[in-house]
Amino acid sequence: MIQKPRGTEDLFEQKAREFFSLEMIIRNLVDLYNYNEIKTPIFESTEVFKRGVGEETDIVAKEMFSFQDRKNRDLTLRPEGTAPTVRAILENKLYINEKLPLKLFYFGSMFRYERPQAGRQRQFNQFGVEVFGPKTAEIDSEIICLAVSILNTIGLEDHQVHLNYLVSGATREKYILDLKNQLKTFSLCDDCTKRLETNPLRVLDCKIDAKKFNDVIDMKSYLADEDMQHFNNLKSLLTNVGIKFVEDKLLVRGLDYYTGFVFEIKDANKATLLGGGRYDNLVHELGNVDLPAAGFAIGMERLVLALEVAQISLTEPIALDAYVIGLSDKAKHFANILLLMLRSEGLKVDFDFMNRSLKSAFKQSEKLNAKNIIIIGDNELKENVVVIKNQITNQEHKVKIEEIVNTIRKGN
Ligand code: HAM
Repeated sequence: MIQKPRGTEDLFEQKAREFFSLEMIIRNLVDLYNYNEIKTPIFESTEVFKRGVGEETDIVAKEMFSFQDRKNRDLTLRPEGTAPTVRAILENKLYINEKLPLKLFYFGSMFRYERPQAGRQRQFNQFGVEVFGPKTAEIDSEIICLAVSILNTIGLEDHQVHLNYLVSGATREKYILDLKNQLKTFSLCDDCTKRLETNPLRVLDCKIDAKKFNDVIDMKSYLADEDMQHFNNLKSLLTNVGIKFVEDKLLVRGLDYYTGFVFEIKDANKATLLGGGRYDNLVHELGNVDLPAAGFAIGMERLVLALEVAQISLTEPIALDAYVIGLSDKAKHFANILLLMLRSEGLKVDFDFMNRSLKSAFKQSEKLNAKNIIIIGDNELKENVVVIKNQITNQEHKVKIEEIVNTIRKGN
């Protein structure tokens, strides 16, 4: 039997419904914050990610699904949504002043060649937001606030916000130099020994070595006054709206574009549900336009997993207003028209398409949680009626065709 590729998932039945409900809840919430949807292609020129995410990151160096098309163009299945969003706003010139702030959101599949495990797949889905224009603590606070309210709305209140501020600009080089010198005094894992040369900041969030770094120099002591001011403003804005956070000096994020605040939210089991931050140079990097930006992305599978663990379901149980059974060919023909009529009245109905025996058709109606069973036979057709059995009251009535909708709505 042909099997799905490693690290991918088939979604169906209850789990597919959970994903759908989750997406609807997030869509409603993001609408309250006045964000607009952007849909970008699933694949982009590889250059978008090399220049956008950074050649030294794990994502670009090891995890991309890249290929050449028939004209030898280098393409990559998107591993994340930020760089493509930046490419799209540049290409469509969405950065003009009247459109700012540009508050965008997206849902979509992302692809990373990672070692699959719970909550880590090769194809996964992200919901993300990106805001272009403002470089203020207020918008940073709104972004974190939105992330927190998504978690609270779906019932994952037991989470922890980790916050840090990355040093950028003139003092960054000095900090990196000092950090490198300090890290050289540690015995590091093989990956970190390499990273020390290519991407020393990433050494700080190494899963193996991070425990050793409690006393490592805090990059916040290198922050310029205006960055320090921005960070302090952000922290007091968050405190004002009741958002608790922990300052995490080892939080550096795995993508190279961040320039200011960075944050991650972890669930009760310390799994990272989402992450993001400010990336003021990326638009310039990809298109020579100066435009500050910030955002975050949530892994939808991680949320569904966390909901499962917390035993929270977002879906209503399936229920039909009526299940229709036709006892003869003529009755089945009539049922076909009846279904159309009932659905046009907004009723959720289904039909015994498998021609089951009456007994198993009744069983099927129970599985589908039908509130009513409509039975049509030749005799009923002659009298212009159907039999409706109300599954809740257990009452059975002959009902005139023109009264079916009312009877179902009234529930007697
Ligand atoms: P990221 O931290 O790479 O950031 O991914 C964001 C979230 O996507 C993670 O916290 C996690 O929930 C989920 N995720 C990542 N990789 C996987 C995977 N292999 N399987 C399942 N879920 C995964 C970004 O992607 C940035 N673009 C976020 C951002 C937006 N920063 C600013 N704007």
